[in-house]
Amino acid sequence: MAEVVIALDVASRAAARNLVDLLPSEANFLKVGLELFVRGGPDVVTELGARGRRVFLDLKLHDIPNTVEAAAKAAAELEVDLLTVHAQGGSRMIEAARRAVDGSGTRLIAVTLLTSLSGPKGIGAAGASGVDRSSEVLRLARQAVDAGAHGVVSSAGEARVLREALPRDSIIVTPGIRLRGDARDDHVSVATPGEALRAGADILVIGRSVTRAASPADAFATVQAELVEA
Ligand code: C5P
Repeated sequence: MAEVVIALDVASRAAARNLVDLLPSEANFLKVGLELFVRGGPDVVTELGARGRRVFLDLKLHDIPNTVEAAAKAAAELEVDLLTVHAQGGSRMIEAARRAVDGSGTRLIAVTLLTSLSGPKGIGAAGASGVDRSSEVLRLARQAVDAGAHGVVSSAGEARVLREALPRDSIIVTPGIRLRGDARDDHVSVATPGEALRAGADILVIGRSVTRAASPADAFATVQAELVEA
């Protein structure tokens, strides 16, 4: 069964603590993104670890190989389970990041093309004008895995193709998950937990559908039930 990561998209350590307290203990895999990390610092990660939680550090690193290698080493020292880098940083950058996490429990996950880069102003702006999104996602995913990424981030829609194309042990991480009937918010496309699982996702990232629910614990239980059923 796929694992579920809950996104702690909040602005302070105190808010993160409050949210963790609302979640059931089975929701023990949590995503720390840019806002919380910039505001709360590495102590946020250390605190979650001390409370027995596993951490997905979603920093989407993208810089010269030497800089990314140093940052990835620091993340591995924080004992995060997952760390994101941008596939667009290229093979040498990903090889450097992989060197940095080797020997630790940290697995490297490559973000292919942000969904915000879709459409006419999108992929062109990202430097791949004239290339259609799905082939660019596939190219970047293959390149990242070849360079040492343990997995990739992908929408549920793209996961099916990547599941076929990538080695079986590549981890597919899928955000954009909504429980049936929830608002899609700012997502271009959404999938239910069952749809993402059937598309081949190994790890589902869920934010607002759980964290903004009247009862996050009930919403988390609904996600789990849907995954068991699927
Ligand atoms: O929309 P939701 O609140 O479920 O988003 C959860 C997480 O998924 C956010 O932290 C966001 O960074 C991530 N996300 C993503 N790619 C998208 C949309 C959201 O990685 N296209």
